Amino acid sequence: MTTLLSVENLSKVYTLGGGLFKKSRDLVALNDISLTVEAGETLAIVGESGCGKTTLGRCIIKAQPVTEGKVFYHQEGGQKVELTALDKRAIKPWRRDIRMIFQDPMSSLNPNMRVFDIVAEPLRVHRICKGRELEERVVSTLAKVGIPADAIGRYPHAFSGGQRQRIGIARALVLDPKLVIADEAVSALDVSIQAQVLNLLDDLKEEFGLTYIFISHDLGVVNYIADRVVVMYLGHVVETSPTELLFERPRHPYTEMLLEALPIADPSRRKGRNKELKGEIPYLGNRPQGCPFHTRCKYAEDKCRAEKPVLRPINGTAQMAACHFAEKLNLQGAYEAPQKVFA
Ligand SMILES: Nc1ncnc2c1ncn2[C@@H]1O[C@H](COP(=O)(O)OP(=O)(O)OP(=O)(O)O)[C@@H](O)[C@H]1O
Ligand code: SF4
Ligand SMILES: [Mg+2]
Repeated sequence: MTTLLSVENLSKVYTLGGGLFKKSRDLVALNDISLTVEAGETLAIVGESGCGKTTLGRCIIKAQPVTEGKVFYHQEGGQKVELTALDKRAIKPWRRDIRMIFQDPMSSLNPNMRVFDIVAEPLRVHRICKGRELEERVVSTLAKVGIPADAIGRYPHAFSGGQRQRIGIARALVLDPKLVIADEAVSALDVSIQAQVLNLLDDLKEEFGLTYIFISHDLGVVNYIADRVVVMYLGHVVETSPTELLFERPRHPYTEMLLEALPIADPSRRKGRNKELKGEIPYLGNRPQGCPFHTRCKYAEDKCRAEKPVLRPINGTAQMAACHFAEKLNLQGAYEAPQKVFA
């Protein structure tokens, strides 16, 4: 496998409030994140709301400045470009290669622009083509995501949620990118439409030779589409694993908790499974000492409250976890493959 993107010790701190008589507060949204994305894979980033998934995506495309750390884009031939070191002008060419599909298709598509112009805009901004060539490229990209040519003059509100998401995908793909970051690309959609969009993403990946970072809070969706998973909690990476292994035998108690909360179709197997995730997520501005998960972890011991565990390979497997006891805990996987929801 060839690495396409690497993130090294990335941190992002938001400073909130502050004024004449008010003290500002720091909110650490990302804490020392390191990961790699291999060419051709679909890497999922999962975790509950607020754990920093969108912030990570936005830091990678430099839509937000990072506080610390580096992001490298690996070119064919092995040369690395440090995206975090580039200014606005210098990053522009790389923005063609790395595109993001944003979380909410309604607010990310300009309601005052026709679909044709929404998809044409990146081609115009990057001065790729114009006139008839631009028109053909826009129409053919929209056709690939299932939007017919006779609909391109309409505005976003005239489309369904699934169609709007397809338009967002076309806007990302029209520049012929290498890496697409899809942020909750199907979360707002009904399950049947989710399946259509997921299948479309899979087909497009094959056709265009894409690599995906697939951000989602839904492990069922992740199991359907991802090769590898990064689990985040409170701005930390707590586990990374090939998808199958993660569902078979998670290595971090937080992953086990997420799997326990997955809906199970067979009632005879539901016993002992949680319907909801347990415990409150601590406020990011006031994070626990030691292991960030200790306030919700049923395996926590004194050491967990005092010492922060490091992310490391577990027992010579392809799995990594940040838990003091990951080597010896026998954590429970999922009873059944949740992709059945989409069958
Ligand atoms: N621009 C910002 N200014 C201040 N705080 C922010 C900003 N953007 C995000 N945050 C905070 O950073 C944390 C991480 O937010 P982020 O949107 O990355 O989470 P997420 O995992 O994508 O959540 P969700 O699943 O709800 O989309 C949250 O506590 C959020 O409130
Ligand atoms: S280090 Fe301790 S608190 Fe953290 S996940 Fe492991 S057992 Fe739980
Ligand atoms: Mg988000």
